[in-house]
Amino acid sequence: MRTGSRRAPEEREPTVPNTAPAATAGRRLPAPALADFAARIFSALGTRQEAARVVADALVDADLAGHGSHGVMRIPRYAGFVRDGAVDPTAQARVVAVDGAAARIDAGWGWGQPAGMLAVATARELVEQHGLAAVTIANCNHIGRLGAYGERLAEQGLVGIALCNAEPVVAPAGSRDRLLGTNPLALAAPRSGGAPVVLDIATAAVAEGKLSLARDAGAAIPTGLVVDAEGRPSDDPRAFYDGGALLPFGGHKGSGISIFIEILGGILSGSGAAAGSRYDHGNGTLVLALDPGRLVGTIPFADAVAELTGVVEASRPVDAAQPVMMPGTPEQRARRERERDGVPVSAVVWAELERVAGELGVDPALDGLEAAA
Ligand SMILES: NC(=O)c1ccc[n+]([C@@H]2O[C@H](COP(=O)([O-])OP(=O)(O)OC[C@H]3O[C@@H](n4cnc5c(N)ncnc54)[C@H](O)[C@@H]3O)[C@@H](O)[C@H]2O)c1
Repeated sequence: MRTGSRRAPEEREPTVPNTAPAATAGRRLPAPALADFAARIFSALGTRQEAARVVADALVDADLAGHGSHGVMRIPRYAGFVRDGAVDPTAQARVVAVDGAAARIDAGWGWGQPAGMLAVATARELVEQHGLAAVTIANCNHIGRLGAYGERLAEQGLVGIALCNAEPVVAPAGSRDRLLGTNPLALAAPRSGGAPVVLDIATAAVAEGKLSLARDAGAAIPTGLVVDAEGRPSDDPRAFYDGGALLPFGGHKGSGISIFIEILGGILSGSGAAAGSRYDHGNGTLVLALDPGRLVGTIPFADAVAELTGVVEASRPVDAAQPVMMPGTPEQRARRERERDGVPVSAVVWAELERVAGELGVDPALDGLEAAA
């Protein structure tokens, strides 16, 4: 383990990969065919057709957005969840209570993504009546890329906020103990003349999925992301898997936000805080929607967001080769490129997908994937 190792000054700071490295980048696959293939796998796992489609589309959408850690590479793990009984593929999320602008969803330990989409639809309905809405989700398996939910609301002219807690793998600032989830937060706002502005971040300094990609690639990671089992900083992703912990981003600031996500996602939804005695081991989720038209007064909200975008993007970059971007721009760029050239799927991930498909009697060649490879 390269714990706390010193690096020569000229050595480049390693970055954390979000897709498998080029050496194992097996193929580029058209998103619609990949989504059809994924949907067949989820159907073969016993999922209702409509829900299979939602989960498959959500994973491929994460790949399109450039977040391979939340894309189809998750399918083998998801299939394992069904085998182990953690996911009931037949369960249907349902709204169990509505009171004014507040609603509660019970995801019934089915797939998280259809529950997330139900929260978006519910928030959308409530916001029409009340101008704002708060929806919690309990008994919720992995809900995927949170930005997707905020984005759906922002595409309809609303401010969308989504956050959730997760299994404890992050040490609070100053601690070496795994007490907090990677606890993502997504904030999205509509913008005139362009796609919504979307900030979608884990409050851990690195998402666990990216760490596993680095470990599989045998890559070092920047220090400040993980500590080893003794609480020492490490540049080896394996330090985390060997009993260490992830760190929050931004020291006490990220740690504080993460603790509040335990409160607002975990405790408020009834899922419990990850380190608490009542934790249900899911993604305790809160989705908020605001209608800017009812809050902003006379200034057209989406126009003002567009103006802010212009100001930020026109600002002087520190590095002329790296223009300043708004949150959400990297994902929009990845989406344009991947819709055109296909989604990169590494040889390792593809082999795993073929194995899972084979076990379930799903033939990828039927979807024309072999021809496209
Ligand atoms: N369901 C779960 O349990 C769970 C847990 C953790 C993370 N996640 C998901 O993992 C995904 C990855 O999270 P992450 O923290 O690794 O994301 P990240 O560090 O890649 O940050 C992504 C965000 O930062 C913005 N961004 C990136 N570079 C930028 C730049 N140069 N200028 C301006 N903005 C920039 C992006 O537009 C995006 O909003 C997220 O989609 C998150 O929802 C899910």
